[in-house]
Amino acid sequence: DPGGPAERPVGAPSKPAGMRGNLTNYGDAEFALFLRKAFIKGAGYTDDAVDRTVVGIVDTGSGFNPCHGNMPQLIEAVRRGVMLAGALPVEFPTISLHESFAQPTSMFLRNLMAMDTEEMINALPVDAVVLIGGCDKTVPAQLMGAASAGKPAIQLVTGSMLTGAYRGRTVGACTDCRAFWGQHRAGELDEQEINEVNGSLVGSVGTCSVAGTASTMACVAEAMGIALPGSATPPAVTADRMRIAEQTGRRAAELAEEGLTADRILTPAALENALRVLLAVGGSTNGLVHLAAVAGRLGHPLDLARFDEMSRETPVLVDLKPAGRHYMEDLHKAGGVPALLHELRDLLNLDAPTVTGRTLGAELDRAPEPFAQEVIRPRTMPIYPSGSIAVLRGNLAPNGAIIKQAAAAPELLEHRGRAVVFENSADLAARIDDEDLDVRPDDVLVLKNIGPVGAPGMPEAGYLPIPKKLARAGVRDMVRISDGRMSGTAAGTIVLHVSPEAAVGGPLRHVRNGDQIRLSVQERLIQLEVSEKDLQERERDSPVSQPVPARGYRRLYVEQVTQAEEGCDFRFLQAETNQGTVPRK
Ligand code: FES
Ligand code: MG
Repeated sequence: DPGGPAERPVGAPSKPAGMRGNLTNYGDAEFALFLRKAFIKGAGYTDDAVDRTVVGIVDTGSGFNPCHGNMPQLIEAVRRGVMLAGALPVEFPTISLHESFAQPTSMFLRNLMAMDTEEMINALPVDAVVLIGGCDKTVPAQLMGAASAGKPAIQLVTGSMLTGAYRGRTVGACTDCRAFWGQHRAGELDEQEINEVNGSLVGSVGTCSVAGTASTMACVAEAMGIALPGSATPPAVTADRMRIAEQTGRRAAELAEEGLTADRILTPAALENALRVLLAVGGSTNGLVHLAAVAGRLGHPLDLARFDEMSRETPVLVDLKPAGRHYMEDLHKAGGVPALLHELRDLLNLDAPTVTGRTLGAELDRAPEPFAQEVIRPRTMPIYPSGSIAVLRGNLAPNGAIIKQAAAAPELLEHRGRAVVFENSADLAARIDDEDLDVRPDDVLVLKNIGPVGAPGMPEAGYLPIPKKLARAGVRDMVRISDGRMSGTAAGTIVLHVSPEAAVGGPLRHVRNGDQIRLSVQERLIQLEVSEKDLQERERDSPVSQPVPARGYRRLYVEQVTQAEEGCDFRFLQAETNQGTVPRK
């Protein structure tokens, strides 16, 4: 029998209520508590146990999620920490998402996981929660849910996988996955060799070992103060990881007593620190979308102009694949995020609160002294000096677009070229390798309809392949433009997240074969060189007609999803102050 949960205003500090928390009211609260205790005692609990502060542990283990394959060990260690602090740990499941096992794309399901997380935190009698996540979309979903739930929460990541070895060469998922597959397609690796590679790429359970979205979000969560200092980088299967889990459980029990809620840690100052670290690790462009979503939950939407300004000031310092040479386990041995923050100290908001109850600055003062190492560069020797991710605007992207300048060909950053247009992913697949395709190396490849609504789910299809006939002729990079995303492990002169997207009426949909497009990263410009009058004519000739799916989650998604700069969150899940900022056509 559902009945209504006790109402508590979001953001209000909570005091531990233990099993009395969120008590379902049958008109007789004491009877409801009596029943609740009777049921949990049926699982063998004593009165001493059930009368304590309750710390919920969010279990996102799944047979389809090897990135979370250490979940049982992590839960055991978190439980130990909670009990050492005198509270009662109780774990409960939510949805689990893995990049390779979520159709049509894990991004499509991220908001569902965020809703599941928020609602279960609010439904259950938990005084605080430990959120255990790791794979790309899971940490963003948990932070979004916790931001809205307004209870004390602390993030624990599962940790990175170990590297493997292929014939003496260190390998890890998934920058190397692409490189070896390319060699296999080119006939350089035979069937047996590529099978050997397949068995070596993922050395253990845990998240991808390069600076993809999972590593980016782990570092960002620590920098934001919602995870313990030093907690981002220990690999999944290490003693360090288990000790962090124990400490996280202990701290969660204290948070419950202090009533320090997640929304009070995820402040604008903390979010700025997160963006700094995203830039300094040479992190995934997807991280930007996820942080926009978290910020939107709290009513202080991400300002892309401010982000561009921060990008111009922030060097890439961490030498991780795909931009650099190393893996997450190397970053851990080099001192992890605290050592990076030390190097970035003057760029950070040191007064930002953290989940420890101390400010970020106070935590840095307590952190171990940095030492000589080769993974985190000093400011004087950056991997990339500044502006690694640039924000573009122009008549092609009135609400913004981005380019990972650090991963682009320098000679293409100022470019004018003829558009070669693909209407959607299917059109691209059908024609890109056609020998008769009218395409030249200095053209601009444009892909429409892979945005949040268009695909739907904004898949990582923004990394358009170089047409085969040009690739054979030695062309390695071209300017490519879309309203989609790209994997953190890919590179090229690729304009992403064009907003508004084609499917909701963005100007991208008006681009035609042969139009001139101008990209100037220096001027932060992406311009379709077609007259205003012609554009208005094209608008009249092609009214927006995005079909709405008939039913189910897909329908909810298409009706509610926001554009990239708002994090692709659902409109009705954003903070009230942040609603309706994107005009609907
Ligand atoms: Fe899970 Fe890469 S697939 S982190
Ligand atoms: Mg990824």
